[in-house]
Amino acid sequence: SMSRYQAALLCLGLFILLLYVGRPGPLEQTSWLWGGPNVTVLAGLTQGNAPIFYREVPPLHRGVEVVLLHGKAFNSHTWVQLGTLQLLSQRGYRAVALDLPGSPEHFLAPLGLHLFPGFGNSAPSKETSTAAGRAELLERVLQDLEVQKAVLVSPSLSGRYALPFLMRAHHQLRGFVPIAPTSTQDYTPEQFWTVKTPTLILYGELDHTLAQESLRQLRHLPNHSVVKLPNAGHACYLHKPQDFHLALLAFLDHLP
Ligand SMILES: *[C@@H]1O[C@H](CO)[C@@H](O)[C@H](O)[C@H]1NC(C)=O
Ligand SMILES: *[C@@H]1O[C@H](CO)[C@@H](O)[C@H](O)[C@H]1NC(C)=O
Repeated sequence: SMSRYQAALLCLGLFILLLYVGRPGPLEQTSWLWGGPNVTVLAGLTQGNAPIFYREVPPLHRGVEVVLLHGKAFNSHTWVQLGTLQLLSQRGYRAVALDLPGSPEHFLAPLGLHLFPGFGNSAPSKETSTAAGRAELLERVLQDLEVQKAVLVSPSLSGRYALPFLMRAHHQLRGFVPIAPTSTQDYTPEQFWTVKTPTLILYGELDHTLAQESLRQLRHLPNHSVVKLPNAGHACYLHKPQDFHLALLAFLDHLP
């Protein structure tokens, strides 16, 4: 029969197993990394003197087009890792993820002085120093990619591009999906009111700063809906990819 010693060991083993299985953390995230049928992700550079790196999935020239930007700690590959590009492709959407311009390696950079602040992997561009320049850059990239009526997905710091673009070129957008973006404070409620673009405001329940700040401004967009992802922080698409994908697809599937 089992000695006390063996029984104690068994209990300890079970306890450790429970600890491990019950642990929250990256489990859910990894289970949503792409494991479905193969989708080819193409990568390329746009033309011109400030080329932008992008990843794209088929259908390449048909249907509703979705353009995904990224926040400061992320890049276009984030949307491949999460399976967002593959999922959109499977649902018949053309999806393009961009890498925004980065900061130049400049002698002032070590001092924390960035003349052309950038946060992406594409080549630095002087245009990024003004809101008008960033909107123009995005407009040119969409032209280069022959994207006509896109749904623009903009998390966090990519609001520096998406908000000026929205204000000046919203007639070029079929939909807008802000995810706690920056730069909403640069515009008045009246300016938001003139933008009729169907908008899905997405944010994580645990994001108490940027999400709330941007929501106060974005709710002046006349045709918006709001989805709050429970138990998710600022990068809510990373914390709750499944909920994020369901909300995004529901919005896309119901666009006129
Ligand atoms: C995807 O493609 C790779 C390489 O072509 C192959 O090894 C793998 O089995 C494929 N996976 C599926 C799910 O089709
Ligand atoms: C508002 O947006 C929805 C899609 O989210 C769309 O179906 C509807 O037609 C839009 N309404 C107006 C008045 O534009």
